[in-house]
Amino acid sequence: MGYENIQVEKRGRVGLVTLHRPKALNALNSALIAELNTALAQFEGDDKIGCVVLTGSEKAFAAGADVKEMSTLSFVEAYKTDFITSWDQVSRFRKPIIAAVAGYALGGGCELAMMCDFILAADNARFGQPEITLGVMPGAGGSQRLTRFVGKSKAMEMCLTGRMMDAAEAERSGLVSRVLPVDELVDEALRVAEKIADFSMPIVMMTKESVNRAYETTLAEGVRFERRMFHSMFATEDQQEGMTAFVEKRAPQFKNR
Ligand code: CAA
Repeated sequence: MGYENIQVEKRGRVGLVTLHRPKALNALNSALIAELNTALAQFEGDDKIGCVVLTGSEKAFAAGADVKEMSTLSFVEAYKTDFITSWDQVSRFRKPIIAAVAGYALGGGCELAMMCDFILAADNARFGQPEITLGVMPGAGGSQRLTRFVGKSKAMEMCLTGRMMDAAEAERSGLVSRVLPVDELVDEALRVAEKIADFSMPIVMMTKESVNRAYETTLAEGVRFERRMFHSMFATEDQQEGMTAFVEKRAPQFKNR
């Protein structure tokens, strides 16, 4: 498929999706989201892909939902089309997906990054939920996910004032896993993704599912879920290979990559 709003590449076992609407700072319109969902569905079904990196430009990961497209939306249209719900596909992607964020990640851009499994940030990254300045509130999970990442006080302040967070504050607050020089961001994200893609894919997917469970359930149920997943791993040839390789002091050759 030819894409107009994103660029899609395969780098070995890693899928790289680059948001590409430079004139609009990668504002997320419905065409871009449809293309992103198509690209992710293809990577999901591609056995050769073990991890995905989602990035934007050096100036903007994404400056939010496309305000120009959204400005004339009526309540009835929004409700009938379940506006924004199609974005959730990113959070249902079953393989690991890393957000590599440089520049602005605002509104829906910040929300899209938070739907990924973790965020690597460039030193020029700026995160914010400025919807309040447009007379609305976050609509793609920002009030929920940001609160879980950074806690109530900071999330509430950001959502109520629209204040942006720089990369250092984002790392301090637990929103991003690491901060990198902007010119090293994508290469390092690709290196991390390659490392993940080199492990056993079913084990990686079960690990992702288990960490995500922590947000959806109680501690006791989450630990029970983890334990059952852990037990099931002993039915895989990759568990045998991983542990045998350790005992034999050699590198493992996982079959289910
Ligand atoms: N939607 C549509 N177009 C956008 C956009 C957006 N979210 N953000 C930027 N653009 C466009 C601008 O309109 C401008 O286009 P024109 O040249 O045609 O006028 C172009 O991108 C460049 O933007 P600026 O000239 O404004 O660039 P800047 O460097 O001066 O400012 C900025 C950068 C601070 C990010 C500023 O563009 C900005 O504030 N953007 C809007 C951010 C925002 O409010 N995002 C939240 C959207 S609502 C949302 O996301 C809802 C939700 O929860 C899903």
